[in-house]
Amino acid sequence: MISKISKIKSLKRRSKIVCLTAYSKNIAQTIDKYTDIILVGDSLGSTLYNFKSTRSVTLEMMIRHSKSVRQGIADSLMVVDMPYNTYNKPSQALNNCKKVIKLTKCDGVKIEGGLKKIKIIKHLIKNKIPIMGHLGILPQSTKKFKSKGKSIKERNELIRDCKILEDAGVFSIVLECVESKLARHITNLIKIPTIGIGSSNNCDGQILVLDDILGLTESKMKFVKKYANVKKIIAFGAKKFKKEVKSRKYPSQKHSY
Ligand code: KIV
Repeated sequence: MISKISKIKSLKRRSKIVCLTAYSKNIAQTIDKYTDIILVGDSLGSTLYNFKSTRSVTLEMMIRHSKSVRQGIADSLMVVDMPYNTYNKPSQALNNCKKVIKLTKCDGVKIEGGLKKIKIIKHLIKNKIPIMGHLGILPQSTKKFKSKGKSIKERNELIRDCKILEDAGVFSIVLECVESKLARHITNLIKIPTIGIGSSNNCDGQILVLDDILGLTESKMKFVKKYANVKKIIAFGAKKFKKEVKSRKYPSQKHSY
């Protein structure tokens, strides 16, 4: 039987890969039919907990949310972000990744970084941990969200990092805010799928934070497109409930024991 990871890899150049984040079961269950990959992103730090950066997200938080998400996924590949400071050294990274995979039953983990993290990534892959890479803007190490790959130095570094991640055996790479032409060059250069966020249609797939596209956050990021206004729907339901409680319409005998 073809593994879920092989299936994702085989989509390169055949069909665009659809990825979204989820932080809980009900949401994962709702989007699973439409996604190839569901990421439990450490973006949950800012999205759910109002943290200023993803650096405050802990391994325990990721495990708790991922356990919930697991209950909602039937088909998509489930990837969990390894949070900041949990993969600084090969042995520490391996213990933490093993813990995440064992407790959440996810299919793989995502790690930010290229050359600086390559020793750790190689160690993880040698120990059969499926890794999704993440290059370009690295939210765990930067506060500035700006396009990456405009200077020759940045361009060469990004190409080098993509190559070394591919050679190390990662199954795909998220490219965050990478300049369009460079994203195309990298996508043509490597054999594993590139998943873009703010990196143009030249990537093999796209990922966005679900809460952003549903209008649940006030994200001002250039790459965010709002596909629905869920805040409005929630407010509509709450307002109707309020009206019925105040007017004693709810609960009627039908909704009472
Ligand atoms: O944390 C996250 O949600 C992410 C994606 C948006 C790429 O890393």
